[in-house]
Amino acid sequence: MCGIVGILGATPVAPLVIDALKRLEYRGYDSAGIATLEEGCLTRRRAEGKLRNLEARLSEAPLKGLSGIGHTRWATHGKPTEGNAHPHATDRLAVVHNGIIENFRELREELVADGAHFDSETDTEVVAHLVTREMRRSNDPVTAVAAALPRLHGAFALAFLFEGHDDLIIGARRGAPLAVGYGEGEMYLGSDALALAPFTDTIAYLEEGDWVVLSRGGAEFHDKDGAIVAREAHKTQAGAFLVDKGNHRHFMAKEIHEQPEVIGRTLSHYLDMANGTVRLPVDMPFDWTKIDRISICACGTAYLAGIIAKYWFERLARVLVEVDVASEFRYREAPLPKGQLAIFVSQSGETADTLASLRYTRQMGQHVLSVVNVQSSTIARESDVVTPTLAGPEIGVASTKAFTCQLAVLAVLAIAAARARGHIDEAREKELVRELVSMPGLVAESLKLEPGIESLAYELRKASDVLYLGRGTSYPMALEGALKLKEISYIHAEGYAAGELKHGPIALIDEEMPVIVLAPADAWFEKTVSNVQEVAARGGRIVLIGPEGAAGRAGVEALAEVAMPAMPETFAPIAYAVPVQLIAYHTALSMGKDVDQPRNLAKSVTVE
Ligand code: F6R
Repeated sequence: MCGIVGILGATPVAPLVIDALKRLEYRGYDSAGIATLEEGCLTRRRAEGKLRNLEARLSEAPLKGLSGIGHTRWATHGKPTEGNAHPHATDRLAVVHNGIIENFRELREELVADGAHFDSETDTEVVAHLVTREMRRSNDPVTAVAAALPRLHGAFALAFLFEGHDDLIIGARRGAPLAVGYGEGEMYLGSDALALAPFTDTIAYLEEGDWVVLSRGGAEFHDKDGAIVAREAHKTQAGAFLVDKGNHRHFMAKEIHEQPEVIGRTLSHYLDMANGTVRLPVDMPFDWTKIDRISICACGTAYLAGIIAKYWFERLARVLVEVDVASEFRYREAPLPKGQLAIFVSQSGETADTLASLRYTRQMGQHVLSVVNVQSSTIARESDVVTPTLAGPEIGVASTKAFTCQLAVLAVLAIAAARARGHIDEAREKELVRELVSMPGLVAESLKLEPGIESLAYELRKASDVLYLGRGTSYPMALEGALKLKEISYIHAEGYAAGELKHGPIALIDEEMPVIVLAPADAWFEKTVSNVQEVAARGGRIVLIGPEGAAGRAGVEALAEVAMPAMPETFAPIAYAVPVQLIAYHTALSMGKDVDQPRNLAKSVTVE
């Protein structure tokens, strides 16, 4: 969601704040703002739209202060206007906020009755007025923040800068991440370590409910009861990751093309390459043979990775899997027999609904395993065991490399479970591992299909609706294809299990609507081909993604054929993700859309 940063610097901080915000822009990009202390006086610059608009404002009217806070916004309360952009300020302080203040209406009424004047439609502004009211009472920023925080309900991270206090920033964390960075006579606060990577690699994280008082000399952490606590600083790897586009036009293109490398890196973390077997780097705190049921829970693309994994766990390890969208699961009150396994899949590790579901399964006595890309995230920290994806930072809003790395980890876990439960022998394990190890190469082969997909995208951009079909593991891939296309091109798209066609969606088929069929050479191929024929019989415009010559075998004339390399069937979704991603990318690109920062979306969904 929103990105926040705070810097107590030795030189003017505005350029540093902008630099950090650029690395946080993936979290939200509908407006941005900065506040600094100019000779002790709070001064703000804010702008609607992308960060570049704020940069333009700053070049017209520069700021020179040595202390500052900044924000890049994903609107929750109030339109993305300059007036609603953070920081919000009073005569005493400025504040930036990520998250939601759930009781802002009551607080606003109370504060208005007390004489406060509100300038924006945001929930955040109540925080500014609440702390200001406390400041008028105590005249001490630390006392004021400590008194105000318990009044706030919701999930948030906050950073405060105070008029006349050049060596002070206060941060608070409840339900949204916040990191403290240590420099040489400088201190930093940010939504994640990546934002602070240009300045420092020494990072401490606030724990849930903590708040922190920063000065240039260091940080004083308080827990939710106000007690001073120690929070250890660690060296992070964040600086090792370059957050740039390399030779690519967009982060999404770069991340799609990085897949052979990062899937390979992820697999080698979990496999004994010399023996050709699975070697999990951590012990599982449960016995696979005692697990009768796995609950997988996630949102969006990560949820779709979970559905693919269901097929793998059920087929290979013969264990029942339930997959849920986290926003539904968290309130469904599903009865879960004690001692079973719950798996949470999340790129960011901060998704609010996934985290709430994790906490529910913990209450229900489940073993909690998470597959996350950000190892310092809340979901990782609250899990019994973490099997990370080693995709590196994913900046494009549409998930690509994180998704295929999630599939790689889930595939390894399914093989481990199958072996431990005695459903496969060593020879079969080695065969499956061999197949899995071939996937990075097959992903690289699939990337060579890009020129043909670019031409296809030129046709697809004229469509107002697109249908994706698949069976077996290609069914969730069809859902992923539709999700990817709609989120970055804004073309309406739906994914269906091909066998469901006759139960409704076939009514949509006409000479206008492209029907993209995912048909790998697997156990479901012939069945999918029959569905393709049904579409052809109704004049449908078929795009067939399958093995060489699939359209000929189906006896249909396709609008386009994407001929995938021959591959082992079980893990085919890892390679079939590539054409699905490239179709969305090139269609959006040919329509002139902003593929990395599509409208209304944000990368890390820390509100429910
Ligand atoms: C789609 C996409 C989203 C995320 C979802 C979950 O391309 O990126 O659907 O997959 O918001 O996010 P994480 O994985 O961070 O929990």
